[in-house]
Amino acid sequence: MCGIIGYIGDGRASRIIVKGLKRLEYRGYDSAGIVTEEDGKLYIKKGAGRIDELSKELGFPEMPGKRGIGHTRWATHGIPNDINAHPQTDCTGKIALVHNGIIENYRELREELLKRGHRFDSDTDTEVIAHLIEDELKSGGSFEEAMRRALLRLKGSFALGIIYTEEPDKLYFVRNESPLVLGIGEGENFAASDVPAFLEYTNRVVFLDDREYAIIGKDFWVVKNLDSGETVEKPVQKIGWSLEMAEKAGYPHFMLKEIYEQPRAIRDALHGNAGIIRSVAEEVARYEKIFIVAMGTSYHAGLVAKYLFQRLAKKVPIVEDASEFRYEFEDLVDENTLVIAITQSGETADTLAAMKLAKRKGAKVLAIVNVVGSMATRIADLTLYTHAGPEIGVAATKTYTTQLTVLTMLAIELARVLGTAGEEYLERLEMELNTVPELVERVLKHDGSLRELAEYLREKRDFFYIGRGISVPTALEGALKLKEISYIHAEGLSAGELKHGPLALLEDGVPVVAIAPGGKTFDKVVSNIEESKARGAYIISIGNRDDLGKVSDVFVKMPEMDELLTPIVYAVPLQLLAYHLAVLRGNDPDKPRNLAKSVTVE
Ligand code: BG6
Repeated sequence: MCGIIGYIGDGRASRIIVKGLKRLEYRGYDSAGIVTEEDGKLYIKKGAGRIDELSKELGFPEMPGKRGIGHTRWATHGIPNDINAHPQTDCTGKIALVHNGIIENYRELREELLKRGHRFDSDTDTEVIAHLIEDELKSGGSFEEAMRRALLRLKGSFALGIIYTEEPDKLYFVRNESPLVLGIGEGENFAASDVPAFLEYTNRVVFLDDREYAIIGKDFWVVKNLDSGETVEKPVQKIGWSLEMAEKAGYPHFMLKEIYEQPRAIRDALHGNAGIIRSVAEEVARYEKIFIVAMGTSYHAGLVAKYLFQRLAKKVPIVEDASEFRYEFEDLVDENTLVIAITQSGETADTLAAMKLAKRKGAKVLAIVNVVGSMATRIADLTLYTHAGPEIGVAATKTYTTQLTVLTMLAIELARVLGTAGEEYLERLEMELNTVPELVERVLKHDGSLRELAEYLREKRDFFYIGRGISVPTALEGALKLKEISYIHAEGLSAGELKHGPLALLEDGVPVVAIAPGGKTFDKVVSNIEESKARGAYIISIGNRDDLGKVSDVFVKMPEMDELLTPIVYAVPLQLLAYHLAVLRGNDPDKPRNLAKSVTVE
């Protein structure tokens, strides 16, 4: 996720853009850049670092020109450095552009352009787009037509801001699966990834839809369809948000916004790893001894991976809390070992220590990370990115479901490499995995009823989350989410464990959350639910089979899906329940007491 802001009018573009980028820093902040134009000349300043430092260091506000585009980056391809910062340009230097999203087919396009003599400066997927437009421009026609022909060749998600020196009175903005909105001013116009970037200048907006592009001037704007080139009529709407609300896109907290971002984040995780998952699976297939190390929510993702690897690839990784692994497993790691480290921040001290131990002992290390260029990516031999974008809320949500997405892709590909599952089943599972964003969209509709449930449960002091098989880590994660932000004590456990102790704690009205997708142990979970109910428990069940409703006080109906995909989709109601209980109890879910987003100390 990155931030884009463009301006054209009579003002000093660079000053307006710097302020806009500050408002978009929550969308990414590892590097930034600005391009402005005056008298047919482009001025570009960019680098790695935060907006404020770069602005002083590079002199953003002094850049000339009444039109320009700015970008604050959350790296997806190419580590954060000066060259990989946006804007990126073509060979002639006449085209400059910024990008938010992931171009899935950039490698093949880059190869084709290299063969045609194009020279690349950066490691980004973005730079390919500038050279592609330049190449199409050589085939004749207007800049707009060349741009359209080039963009029709892209696969993946892209919001773009494009400036071309030969057309001094225009800016181009394109939207496909990454947000873009126009700000309509008086004698000036804006475009940005999000409303906060220009809200202090105008609250009149035009939301672009996917596969649309806009051409804006200081006193005109037009929107067209990317595929047909036809003009599209778009209403101008008024935004009633305060600036602070707008940064959360109208959500009261970043955590809720990030819960709702999960369909887009999961789509980016799918797009971002489609081209490389095979080669990583081939590497993983070479190892018999596999450890998975992680902390917190990432540790739960590791437990899900264990079930996925067992079921699909017939491999049994040992999943260990990194803080234990680093002290207890020293003698079990050697050059025949693969260590998979899961860490969204890429900076968790215990996980980094576990990775360094693995490296010292000659093991191969694969990292699954959200932050490009973080320490974990520099220690690992191989890295898979979750592409969730910055996660501001301390409690992991979209980084968890994107970790699970990547791990599911990896387990499927591993099964394919090892031949441990039928190709027909793997293809069906893969197809269904690609519908998970839509399944999450559907499940988000339970938000209202989960808020009501939270109202009823707000005074409860103890919760139990139970599940079987791949739903055990889902139960653990549900309990952790509740503890982290509502401060209510909760315990996640395998349903079979209930009668070995925890059942003694059940009394009238104690909530038991049962994670019960249809599957081979469904009937067992139902009998555990009845066991709990017989002790007075208040049963909240999450599943897809209607007979669950008969044995539950509250039944959260989930869509049909393969049981192996339920950890991703079933996490959403658990996140929402925890979020609403936290808010009802007067907590700030974005900043829970005593916790940090990344524990960089031991
Ligand atoms: C905790 C976070 O501090 O660290 C959790 O609050 C997270 O949300 C855990 O799961 C591990 O962090 P990471 O970055 O290694 O995944």
